[in-house]
Amino acid sequence: MDIKGKIAIVTGSAGGIGRATAVMLAERGATEIKLVDVKEEALDETARLVAAKGARATTHVLDLADIPSVESWFEAHGDVDILHNNAGVVSGLPQFPDVDAARIRWIIDVNITSLVAATQVVARKMKARGGGVIVNTVSTVALGTGFYDAMYATTKAAVMMFTRCCAPLKEECNVRVAGMLPGLVDTPILDTTGAGGKSDWMKTVLANNEACAPEDIAGGVMALIEDDGLAGGDWVAVRRLGGQVEYQWGHADTV
Ligand SMILES: NC(=O)c1ccc[n+]([C@@H]2O[C@H](COP(=O)([O-])OP(=O)(O)OC[C@H]3O[C@@H](n4cnc5c(N)ncnc54)[C@H](O)[C@@H]3O)[C@@H](O)[C@H]2O)c1
Repeated sequence: MDIKGKIAIVTGSAGGIGRATAVMLAERGATEIKLVDVKEEALDETARLVAAKGARATTHVLDLADIPSVESWFEAHGDVDILHNNAGVVSGLPQFPDVDAARIRWIIDVNITSLVAATQVVARKMKARGGGVIVNTVSTVALGTGFYDAMYATTKAAVMMFTRCCAPLKEECNVRVAGMLPGLVDTPILDTTGAGGKSDWMKTVLANNEACAPEDIAGGVMALIEDDGLAGGDWVAVRRLGGQVEYQWGHADTV
């Protein structure tokens, strides 16, 4: 898809990967970007950065844990060419099994239930307008087995499977659903792994892995949007090794 002249939604765009994606969409000529997050002030800053690149930016404070509100917001605002389902949360402390049931429900709703609801509404609207591209932010944890935050890894594995299972939408509705699997990225989410900052396990992860910049991931999102030769359900994992950005491409039938 040529991004020029297109309308997009980016969830979780108050910072990190979502902000970088929104700014890059504007740089590539998107005309309007709807910015969704719970952090109002930081959303305003993203809107300022997007507007500086020449796109119209609107900000929408929406709690993705509130599924009825998610459904009605996307019904009202989901008539777009591009959707980046990017918002996400980690469990924080305490971890499973000491975490309470409400917290488990919250991480499932933010990371997977809202993403499925948004995709359902927007895919129908995209079909009616002739097509579109949906990129889901997954994580490289969905490719492996070992990750300390069990509920985070479980929800990301679900997003990965959902993305792969959406492959037929390309044929059926001209809606291409793709997966972005970031490796480690130094963004505010890492500071929510512990009590008031980075957890010890996250400090160990950071000490042993090179972190990507949010723009490394946004660049991969642009590639997923722009390449209409990709099949439905295709995905790319992005990591940094030896200072270089590395891409691992995969299909709906490969993990
Ligand atoms: N940072 C990493 O190392 C890493 C690695 C793999 C995947 N990811 C994924 O990338 C995505 C973006 O994360 P990031 O690294 O840019 O971190 P981030 O914390 O900067 O961005 C996540 C955004 O989601 C928003 N959000 C959280 N709960 C929300 C809710 N209930 N409703 C609306 N918005 C909500 C946050 O306010 C935040 O702005 C997430 O899905 C995350 O799981 C991150």
